[in-house]
Amino acid sequence: MDKITVVGAGNVGATCANVIAHKDLAREVVLVDIKEGVAEGKALDIWQTSSINNFNTRVVGVTNNYLRTKGSGVVVITSGVPRKPGMSRDDLIKTNATIVKDVTEKVVKYSPEAIIIIVSNPLDVMTYCAYQASNKPSNKVFGMAGILDTGRYRAFIADALHVSPKDILSLSLGGHGDTMVPLPRYTSVNGIPILELLGQDEIDKIVERTRFGGGELVNLMGTSAWYAPGAAAAQMVEAIVDDQKRIFPVCAFLNGEYGLKDIYMGVPVKLGKNGIESIFELKLLKDEKKELMESADAVKKVMKSLDDMKLF
Ligand code: NAI
Ligand code: 2OP
Repeated sequence: MDKITVVGAGNVGATCANVIAHKDLAREVVLVDIKEGVAEGKALDIWQTSSINNFNTRVVGVTNNYLRTKGSGVVVITSGVPRKPGMSRDDLIKTNATIVKDVTEKVVKYSPEAIIIIVSNPLDVMTYCAYQASNKPSNKVFGMAGILDTGRYRAFIADALHVSPKDILSLSLGGHGDTMVPLPRYTSVNGIPILELLGQDEIDKIVERTRFGGGELVNLMGTSAWYAPGAAAAQMVEAIVDDQKRIFPVCAFLNGEYGLKDIYMGVPVKLGKNGIESIFELKLLKDEKKELMESADAVKKVMKSLDDMKLF
């Protein structure tokens, strides 16, 4: 790909740009921030690892200069504030909705064909906000959360079983919040169901730790995570750039799938050069479906705050 833009050169955005460059996914990565010098400095720092880490992707940083992002094939939006201890992701909506709307409009002006991946929180509602601001089809505007959430889930399972995290296959549905729905029934160690390897108590503990995995890190660091979120967003970029047709949990627009309409939430999708190329509808059991509906209700509550802001 010729050009990829990452908006927000903070913890997640800079990490994402760094991973994209390491994977040599584009000729150029443009990192954008509003804070004078931050994107320029981080881009220069990343570029100075190119000869050490053997990549060619040229990373450049700009302050609010969207002309420089012109013609991007993929844009990752991470701009906004992260949460502090005691805050939920939903507390961020007032600040981040305004930022995400403004940034999306600028991105689309210069890169009308771009596929847009949202990272800013509260994720499901910020993705909806970008969808509205972009006027693009929903297969080209979606959010990153499920790869991160299942990344945490897979790491906890790998620890519990003393096996490689690479061999853990898993799925998580629902909103990117404490009501997310990791699915043990769809989780295996290279095909061996974890239900045959771990007791129900142990699985319940892992599911609970996953649901609050973001908060665990906020409490440890005083701000939210960035290595796993940045890498997860870059993995989505890679699937698109290389047209990999990977199946990932992604925050996607639902239009009747799972009985839900006009809402963005995490579901398994196929990711390729056209963005979301299909959505998979699982045959959920009664309890799983109930949990998914509770998660949808939680997302709808935050959607109401977005509607009340009357940005659109
Ligand atoms: P950060 O504070 O390190 O970086 C955010 C950057 O956005 C700052 O450099 C800031 O100057 C910039 N920014 C603010 N307004 C801007 C604008 N209008 N235009 C361009 N840049 C602007 O925060 P961090 O840790 O990178 O997190 C970013 C966002 O991602 C937060 O909302 C956080 O909650 C969210 N997040 C989402 C995850 C997910 O799974 N979807 C995981 C981790 C973080
Ligand atoms: C996370 O899950 C805060 O959404 C961010 O780490």
